[in-house]
Amino acid sequence: MSRIAYVNGSYVAHSEAEIHVEDRGYQFADGVYEVAAVCRGRIIDEDGHLVRLKRSLSELQITMPMADGPFALVCREILRQNRVQDGLLYIQVTRGVARRDHPFPEDVKPALVMTARAVEWPTDADADMGAQVVSVDDIRWLRRDIKSVSLLPNVLAKQEARDKGAYEAWLLDEEGFVTEGSSTNAWIVDQEGRIVTRELGPRILGGITRATVIELARFNGIEVLERKFTLDEALSTPEVFLTSTTSFVRGVVGIDGKAIGDGFPGPVTRRLRGLYLEYCRRATSNV
Ligand code: PDD
Repeated sequence: MSRIAYVNGSYVAHSEAEIHVEDRGYQFADGVYEVAAVCRGRIIDEDGHLVRLKRSLSELQITMPMADGPFALVCREILRQNRVQDGLLYIQVTRGVARRDHPFPEDVKPALVMTARAVEWPTDADADMGAQVVSVDDIRWLRRDIKSVSLLPNVLAKQEARDKGAYEAWLLDEEGFVTEGSSTNAWIVDQEGRIVTRELGPRILGGITRATVIELARFNGIEVLERKFTLDEALSTPEVFLTSTTSFVRGVVGIDGKAIGDGFPGPVTRRLRGLYLEYCRRATSNV
């Protein structure tokens, strides 16, 4: 079956989908995006993704390209046309097309692209293996709370991880504290069994999975601390994990080649992963 993309009002063959050479997303990375998980045909945390998309856009003074109702319909239509039951929905909004000039152009319509594709989620056996992480300097700009398409530092970090046989790169700020992963949020479990992740602010992306995991943890009696931590602290804690739309909750079993705990995802991580999968199942149970 051939894939379909949504590009500025039209559903077109994915292989023929095109954007203008002077789209400001292409020339200036002047745009934002969202990636949402789709499970059994349902968009997980759809409201959270929409709220974050609107926030990113408003921080850049780009208008939301359409009202919520039609927007939700396009999301569903792109999933339907691509027959995605389990997969990913990608949404990108850029400032639009204009003659190349740095200041915001006037009277330009934002450009909206959506794609969807099926994925096979990592199995429990994959998750049980845990992930390896490498540390790299965080060389990104200082508005990481905006989900901008300007991802070159993230791409470089992820490639370094791949080159070293690791799943993810953890980014270190200038004081040696972990900010987040190249496409995931970073967590540790402290000696008291509390889960710790960096506080929200301009230095990290406010992950939708992060927010859901915080809510699930608190609801289930797991204490959550939002504070920064160093790589050394991560190396000496019993458990480490990461979260994202595509990784859900995944245990980290090694950082820079040093084993965490006994080298397998620990009990708090496994519990949170179970709670998160259960949350996704509940969100899709009346389909
Ligand atoms: N990445 N931090 C960064 C830098 C990210 O790019 C992402 C998501 C996250 C986790 O956010 P969420 O839980 O909302 O997925 C944290 C997506 C999946 C991506 O770029 O593909």
